[in-house]
Amino acid sequence: METAMGGGTKAGKMKTAAEKQPSSMACIKFWVVVISIMLLILWVCAMQLATLDGKIMVPKSAFFSPYSFPPQRVYKSNGYLIISTNGGLNQKRLGVLPRIQKRGVLLFAQTDARLANNGLPEELQRLRCRVNYKALGFTRLIEETGRKIVDVLREKGPFLALHLRYEKDVLAFTGCKKGLTKEEAAEVKQMRYSHDGWTHKPIDWKKKQERGSCPLTPEDTALVLQALGIDNTTTIYIAAGEIYNKERRLADLAAAYPNLASKQTILRPEELEPFMEHADQMAALDYIVAIESDVFVPTFVGNMDKAVEGHRRYLGFKTTISLDRKLLFGLIDQYKNGTLLWDEFSLLVKKIHEDRRGKPAKRRENPDHPRQEDNFYSNPYECLPPFASTFN
Ligand SMILES: *[C@@H]1O[C@H](CO)[C@@H](O)[C@H](O)[C@H]1NC(C)=O
Ligand SMILES: *[C@@H]1O[C@H](CO)[C@@H](O)[C@H](O)[C@H]1NC(C)=O
Repeated sequence: METAMGGGTKAGKMKTAAEKQPSSMACIKFWVVVISIMLLILWVCAMQLATLDGKIMVPKSAFFSPYSFPPQRVYKSNGYLIISTNGGLNQKRLGVLPRIQKRGVLLFAQTDARLANNGLPEELQRLRCRVNYKALGFTRLIEETGRKIVDVLREKGPFLALHLRYEKDVLAFTGCKKGLTKEEAAEVKQMRYSHDGWTHKPIDWKKKQERGSCPLTPEDTALVLQALGIDNTTTIYIAAGEIYNKERRLADLAAAYPNLASKQTILRPEELEPFMEHADQMAALDYIVAIESDVFVPTFVGNMDKAVEGHRRYLGFKTTISLDRKLLFGLIDQYKNGTLLWDEFSLLVKKIHEDRRGKPAKRRENPDHPRQEDNFYSNPYECLPPFASTFN
């Protein structure tokens, strides 16, 4: 009541003041004040709502310094991780402890966001490493089955895990058509158009390919592995889903590397059966093999590739070859049309990958184009020598 009265008085005063001034100016001032008050009320309401449904969590301090943390709070420890939050999240905090006590696990959603790549305190990044590489694991059946694949591969000698992104959905999503027959291209296109979230516009895939935004074809992958000097007795474990029209498309790779393997060729059908209906569990098996392999080579970019790369760095900078698809597409063209001889081609392929083997390096930052910077989980250098300091 009082607020409403006060507001009325104010408006009244404003009106009085307005009468003494040129009317258009007064009018503008009046509306500026009214609109400002309305915006303020809307903002307050929005913040209240956001706090209630938890969709936006803006700590107050974020407006002043994006990376400052609230002062440490002293709680009596009951043996669990205590999460310090502030600014309207009290309800959440009250809800967290009982849940972690009941379930023993806490999921921090969105901690792999781009905002968490750089500029965080070192101890926080190291905590993330301990969570990612020490605390988290797969269920027992997945771990055991993954280990079984690794054991079989190990018996035969060194092996390379190839994340060959050449599944039908990858082709449909990217629109990349190199090496597809007309019928295959039509089938893949139809898949794209039947997905609501994927683009329904024509894709200039040749341009995409020039930019390095297409996955390597299995044929080109065979060439590149040979050019890199991967011995033809090496077992190549194909860590991937179902390769699109694999009989035809894997022929070159199988000719160059007779020891091709996959979870389907190593496990008995009944061993693989529990995972068949769960793409994420099938991928988890490949993840385990990819971590353990002597060399890991992804043919496209994806979250799994980045996660594997980071994990392998953590395990002692195990070799991960990040293919430079942009340069490779050009070189492969030149080799195929006779502009480059094999030895020149091979030399160039080796040269451009000398610095792309997952060795110690600072994470690439790019504040102007955050999408292009390296993710923390592909290179958690704060946790790794020679950058890691004493705390661990
Ligand atoms: C593997 O390489 C050796 C020589 O390096 C060659 O003699 C042999 O034919 C190759 N095998 C295949 C399957 O290409
Ligand atoms: C070979 O391919 C490269 C790269 O696409 C191209 O620039 C060049 O003109 C081609 N040369 C011939 C002889 O076709």
